[in-house]
Amino acid sequence: MAGITILGCGMYIPSDLATNEDFAKFVDTSDEWITTRTGIKTRHMANGILTYQMGTEAAKQALREADVAAGEIDLVIGTTVTGDFLTPSMSCMVAGELGMTEVPCMDLNAACAGFVYALDVAQKYLASGDAKRILIVSSEMVTRMVDYTDRSTCVLFGDGAGAMVVAKGEGGFATYISGDPSGAEKIFTKLSMSDSPFRTKTPQWKNPLMQDYPLGLMYMDGNDVYKFAVSAMPRAVEIAAKRLGVTVNQLDLIVPHQANVRIVQTAMKKLGLPMERCYCNIDEYGNTSSACIPVCLNELRQAGRLKPGMKICLVGFGAGLVYGAAAFEIC
Ligand code: COA
Repeated sequence: MAGITILGCGMYIPSDLATNEDFAKFVDTSDEWITTRTGIKTRHMANGILTYQMGTEAAKQALREADVAAGEIDLVIGTTVTGDFLTPSMSCMVAGELGMTEVPCMDLNAACAGFVYALDVAQKYLASGDAKRILIVSSEMVTRMVDYTDRSTCVLFGDGAGAMVVAKGEGGFATYISGDPSGAEKIFTKLSMSDSPFRTKTPQWKNPLMQDYPLGLMYMDGNDVYKFAVSAMPRAVEIAAKRLGVTVNQLDLIVPHQANVRIVQTAMKKLGLPMERCYCNIDEYGNTSSACIPVCLNELRQAGRLKPGMKICLVGFGAGLVYGAAAFEIC
């Protein structure tokens, strides 16, 4: 498969943060429990800024670093499950803020695997020649749908955005994206419906839990998601590596979705790789859904840790349930 070149990266993390101790003030939890069970110490929270605005800040940085003008972008792919509008898309809002006036924009919902899915789509546009420069913006205000009375979920999530400008490259590239939609009820957030005088029948949801769960709040079966993640992540990495034509051991770096450090540790163990071979920043940001991976990539790039010739593998999973990996050579 034709490869990709990362022209520029960006991120935006809100300055407000909440420590584990802050949560212990209103739910029955402790720094010790959260740290040992999840690896999270702090998470940042949007306060006075919207999802598309965080995405715009990350995108501006990515464009600056790429030295690409907004008008030179051929396609904007947004990933979010916590956008500010059902319509217009977050990508349209970001593109508008960037001053773009003639550009296709689309949002992609693959929950926390959104960035990996977006890269898969982007690579296909680049390989076909339909686009030369693509802006991917992943921005999430997960805290807008967190139930702050549920101690098992509220401590896990934070807000933030990551962005990347990509072009066609010469190195290898391979993806594997998949899903197990039978797990749809494991993580969900229901949207509201208007009060219509014409809608007289009670709709039937997939299961009674979905029927009764409050609108707008995230439900998560943490244990089942955990079990899914620790098998899906290594599976996706193995398949993507094989498609790239390398062994897992030849991958220089794994950049995993940051949901729980214990999930990452188990996945790395199953892959037979040491923890030093993966990048984790979950202690500071918690789970920022589809923004996790591009934020990691931005930090790695700014630290000069993405060197030409390196083979890296991004791997994510999330609501759906979906998962996927993208293995490629840095060029
Ligand atoms: N503080 C203190 N205790 C807590 C707690 C918290 N924040 N959250 C849950 N507990 C309690 C539970 O109530 C339970 O108590 P009980 O034994 O009295 O019933 C106990 O801790 C163990 O709960 P369990 O759910 O088995 O804990 P866990 O070690 O599996 O950790 C998660 C829970 C949610 C952190 C973990 O399952 C997880 O990370 N799952 C994956 C979530 C995920 O990846 N989501 C994002 C998808 S993109």
